[in-house]
Amino acid sequence: MDVAHPRLRVGITYNLRKDFSSRKDLPTDSFEEFDSEETIDAIREVLQNDGHQVFKLGGGIDLLDRLRSLSLDIVFNIAEGMGGRNREAHIPALLEFLNIPYTGSDPLTLSLTLDKAMAKKVVSSEGVPTPGFKKIETLNDLQNLNLHYPLFVKLCYEGSSKGVRLDSKISDPAHLREKVTWLLETYDSPVLVEEFVNGPEFTVGIIGNSEPMVLGVMQIEIKGSPPEDAIYSLEIKREWEEKVRYHCPPLISVELKNRIEEVALRAYRALDCRDVSRVDIRVGSDGVPYFLEINPLPGLSPVYGDLPIMARHMGWEYSRLVKTIFQHALQRYGLGGNG
Ligand SMILES: Nc1ncnc2c1ncn2[C@@H]1O[C@H](COP(=O)(O)OP(=O)(O)OP(=O)(O)O)[C@@H](O)[C@H]1O
Ligand SMILES: [Mg+2]
Repeated sequence: MDVAHPRLRVGITYNLRKDFSSRKDLPTDSFEEFDSEETIDAIREVLQNDGHQVFKLGGGIDLLDRLRSLSLDIVFNIAEGMGGRNREAHIPALLEFLNIPYTGSDPLTLSLTLDKAMAKKVVSSEGVPTPGFKKIETLNDLQNLNLHYPLFVKLCYEGSSKGVRLDSKISDPAHLREKVTWLLETYDSPVLVEEFVNGPEFTVGIIGNSEPMVLGVMQIEIKGSPPEDAIYSLEIKREWEEKVRYHCPPLISVELKNRIEEVALRAYRALDCRDVSRVDIRVGSDGVPYFLEINPLPGLSPVYGDLPIMARHMGWEYSRLVKTIFQHALQRYGLGGNG
């Protein structure tokens, strides 16, 4: 046990995929971003081995009573929430209401980043490059689009590549209308139509607060696809072991890597992220790293989470990743922890 900080009462808040996956009336990827019990247990083990008393709380309706009765010092929050663009903010807002510290970003940032269009408006106002886009709520919004093909269509309020398929790259208006119609009818989210960025893809891990640091820049190579056709889609993420090659550090010049890090850090700051986030970036044929989106609740599966994979490539054990995130949160609240 680490004696540098006191034993704390720590709750973990989360949503498990298995609690929802019996709903056969919904699309196959409806619960894609929820976690597995193994992930929660892996986080619990790290915190317990560090000497803390850990309570697995879930994210259901009985949470309020448990939070009120447990006298927790802090919550390690990875709950994705249910329904709408504020869902990731629900539990952090509840924790703020109850005056309980928690890891990660606050409700404003979690809502702002879940709505990809809003996040793009904020980062572009700070000069961060991001592809031209339009938010589509009805098919009428497809008129006067004023964007250059090829385009990319995805859900405005979703993550984990929900709704993103290998055919999400669009080269003509008829196909665009067809795809947007399917997404609007199938999912509970507006659609984001965005200009396609056709160069290599990277995901950047960032940790910290007043001086956030880049944990790593990981290049995502889809085996057998040249960068201009590569899409890190649902199909690919589900079969990542066969279909993806991760390069961390990436196979690019130091100069390009620095520019990617700069874009990621500027987006992190522009959106007021806390403790940790993962930023998705694609480099255009003009050599510019474009911000695609940011994930302030990055998946922490020790097996297939992009951030833990990146950490592993950078020589960090899973426990170090979890502890570092936790320590940054403790430090923000003056509860000890020195990063
Ligand atoms: N404008 C774009 N141009 C080219 N490819 C794109 C664009 N937007 C998204 N993509 C591709 O689609 C993938 C998923 O998009 P994005 O990262 O925005 O969605 P997500 O579902 O929120 O992802 P995550 O799993 O990281 O939460 C990207 O990793 C990238 O491969
Ligand atoms: Mg992404």
